[in-house]
Amino acid sequence: MDQMWGDSKVKAGIEKTDRAALFRDGNYGMFIHWGLFSHLGGQWRGQTFYGIGEWIKRQMKIADSDYMALAKEFNPTGFDARAIAKLAKDAGMKWIIITSKHHEGFAMFKSAHPFNIVDATPFARDPMKELAAACKEAGLGFGFYYSHNQDWTAPGGTNGPKTYPDGSPATFEKYFREKCFPQVKEICTQYGALNFVWFDTPGKMPKELVAELGDYVRKAQPNALLCSRIGHGMGDYESKGDMEVPPRNIEGLWETCDTTNDSWSYAWYDQNWKDSKEILHRLVSTVGRGGTYLLNIGPDGKGRVPSQVVKYLRKAGEWIQRYPQVIYAAGPSPWGYAMPWGDVTTVGNTLNLVVFDWPADGRLLLPGLQTEIAAAGVVVGGKLQPVKWTARGTWTELQLPAAPADRPASVVAVKLKATPKVDPTLGTHPNIPTALLVEFAEVTGAEKKEIRWMEKFGEWKFANQVSKWTETGKAVWTVDVCKPGDYRLELTYKGEGRLAWRIETDEGVKLQNQQNSSPVYHTYTFGLLTFNKPGKHTIAISFVEGDRDKASLEAVRLSPVE
Ligand code: GLC
Repeated sequence: MDQMWGDSKVKAGIEKTDRAALFRDGNYGMFIHWGLFSHLGGQWRGQTFYGIGEWIKRQMKIADSDYMALAKEFNPTGFDARAIAKLAKDAGMKWIIITSKHHEGFAMFKSAHPFNIVDATPFARDPMKELAAACKEAGLGFGFYYSHNQDWTAPGGTNGPKTYPDGSPATFEKYFREKCFPQVKEICTQYGALNFVWFDTPGKMPKELVAELGDYVRKAQPNALLCSRIGHGMGDYESKGDMEVPPRNIEGLWETCDTTNDSWSYAWYDQNWKDSKEILHRLVSTVGRGGTYLLNIGPDGKGRVPSQVVKYLRKAGEWIQRYPQVIYAAGPSPWGYAMPWGDVTTVGNTLNLVVFDWPADGRLLLPGLQTEIAAAGVVVGGKLQPVKWTARGTWTELQLPAAPADRPASVVAVKLKATPKVDPTLGTHPNIPTALLVEFAEVTGAEKKEIRWMEKFGEWKFANQVSKWTETGKAVWTVDVCKPGDYRLELTYKGEGRLAWRIETDEGVKLQNQQNSSPVYHTYTFGLLTFNKPGKHTIAISFVEGDRDKASLEAVRLSPVE
């Protein structure tokens, strides 16, 4: 994993323990990024910083003295801990993790270090105390985010001042002894029982100091889980890269942390709110891959939660209340990847098919299901409205009613006669477009690699892609085609200049075409690909001509032609 987020190895074996139960079975928590940076809201002296708001000091090179002086203006009188705890409950979230001190060094709690919300601001209250109490009262878990390595205003903190006021050289050890460790002790001893202490960006923090900090937390807060971002493999569970919902199932305890727009802390311009459908789809897919979803909100400089966040979290929460079995203590999809129409989580031998795109022809297709079905039905008001199913070769077709049963998703429960077993071959669906991600391709003579980049600063995107195409390079997918016929084939790639690609199937069907390209991933229509027979086929893509050094293929999409 990236140096920034620390290596993703974690201590094994805690998965079955009681300590892990909230995280393992709750599957859905609230992250809160709130701090002095929220007072700026992504703007400094009239200029907007387009990126994750909590990095504004560093990215806009705000002087320490100017930034620290902001504390005198910070007075978030709109902060209401009980209302936030109620929002988390209504959203169906089971705990809250809030930034106690972020990279810029301002403590959102009463600390012996003077740069804190109680001593340095007119607000003069400890919102962490209020939120810890509100979570306890609401029966929610509670924990702190703490940036242990970076501290941009404390001499010796990583990316912080290099000297002390007297000009002598600052050391990380002194920062660690005089600020970091004492503050971790404060958050571990003054706010009751914690379920999480979430360290972040360990960078090159010395292993022995990380160990000292981790050992202390485990003693002071024996029930708290530490994520892998403490560093040096000392976490209890893996924290995936920011905003990443993995395309394949992952074993063990892990979490995707995501945010309700594109910034962690409040940014005035960022109105790219996830609606309830997107929130639920990313939550269900994270649980479907075997993980836990930590979704972030960014209260503004007055401590208020943006109204769109309240609206969509609540709507998503109402849906979860109708289908708690889909999220809580739910297991991963037996297919190991998402379906084109939605995703699947499991409870024992029951598959909960969460349908976000209801099939227009009422036919929901499951590829490669090998366990016999005992019963199947649309879940309405907690009851099953039976549906018929038919075997179509290796596929199972469920006949659904014309209209979806619920919004923004419906649940079709399929009770199996035994433990779910599937042939995980990618299905090419006959009535909905199917994306074939590079993740699932066999690649030879080219390089398959996950790359990550920032759209705006801190807004991370991920792609598994194929690049470095040689003359003999091939990306080959094996697919299970339900229905023979024509499929419109699209390629998603980036590159430079006009690029020619060739597609060949095991039936000898060949397509070759030349299209433009762009420096960002874009989807291009390529041609009609015909399958003559149902069943398993291979689709091989090769790069024919153009700038092969810059060509990067991300996905193929097959859309059935009526
Ligand atoms: C990254 C960012 C940090 C943010 C964190 C959330 O580490 O540096 O600002 O708090 O992601 O996951």
